[in-house]
Amino acid sequence: MVSQTLSAGQNLELEKRPLLTVKNVSKRFGSFYALQNISLTVPEKTIALLIGPNGSGKTTLINCISGVYWPDEGQILFDGKDITEMHVHDIVKLGLVRSFQVPAPFKKMTVAENLLVCGQDNPGENFVSSLNRSRWRASEKESVDKMFKVLKTVGLEDKVDTLAGELSGGQLKLLELGRLLMLNPKMMLLDEPIGGVNPVLANSILSHIINIRNEFGTSFLIVEHRLDIVMKYVDYVYVLSKGNLIASGTPSEIVERRELYDVYLA
Ligand SMILES: Nc1ncnc2c1ncn2[C@@H]1O[C@H](COP(=O)(O)OP(=O)(O)OP(=O)(O)O)[C@@H](O)[C@H]1O
Ligand SMILES: [Mg+2]
Repeated sequence: MVSQTLSAGQNLELEKRPLLTVKNVSKRFGSFYALQNISLTVPEKTIALLIGPNGSGKTTLINCISGVYWPDEGQILFDGKDITEMHVHDIVKLGLVRSFQVPAPFKKMTVAENLLVCGQDNPGENFVSSLNRSRWRASEKESVDKMFKVLKTVGLEDKVDTLAGELSGGQLKLLELGRLLMLNPKMMLLDEPIGGVNPVLANSILSHIINIRNEFGTSFLIVEHRLDIVMKYVDYVYVLSKGNLIASGTPSEIVERRELYDVYLA
């Protein structure tokens, strides 16, 4: 029997303010519980990792937090607000964004264009403010400046004019990170950010994630299977099995828990 997890708000780096709090969340599909009574927190400026075998509920939890699904029970708080039954676009406006297991950029658009379409609240899209040329000009300049800053942060400066469809798998993952950064997030939920990427690029992507946390103060909840690579980059780990949160701790604490290996092999 794996030892008990701690309850929400009790567990992680209490000196930092909790940014995301998941309290007793359950999600059913018919009579099947994909998540049962899940509680966890992610403080500000923290990189948390969510692991577990296939079908353990990782993506379902990301879907509940990001508003794709609403939980059947429980509560989700982000930056002090109850987001349990908010819609995806309202959650994004609060600064909580997510990527998908398979990146979906606009393949026939350049890297620059892919980033620029992600900017929010473009005054040129509003009829009244579109008449005020100085306003949207200033805003477009701001977006382009930001786009170059983001490209530098994710290391794609030399791909600015490349079509997204011509990028490698790893570069697409970096583009995905860049698209999320354009939204000025306080927190990113990343579903398998190094899935299918070679180890060299995988380490590079994770280093970029560390840079983003350090430069912008962004928090992360990352779902990843490749524990050999990802563990050394994260501050805290949550372990799911069959819809239950069965363990949590620092990476070194989790690595020491030999009984957790059986969960992966089962
Ligand atoms: N929309 C759905 N309808 C019915 N069952 C679902 C649905 N989405 C997920 N499930 C089931 O819920 C369980 C958890 O699925 P989920 O996709 O969250 O797992 P996961 O941990 O992300 O797995 P993987 O590592 O393979 O990505 C699985 O048994 C899955 O079949
Ligand atoms: Mg998944």
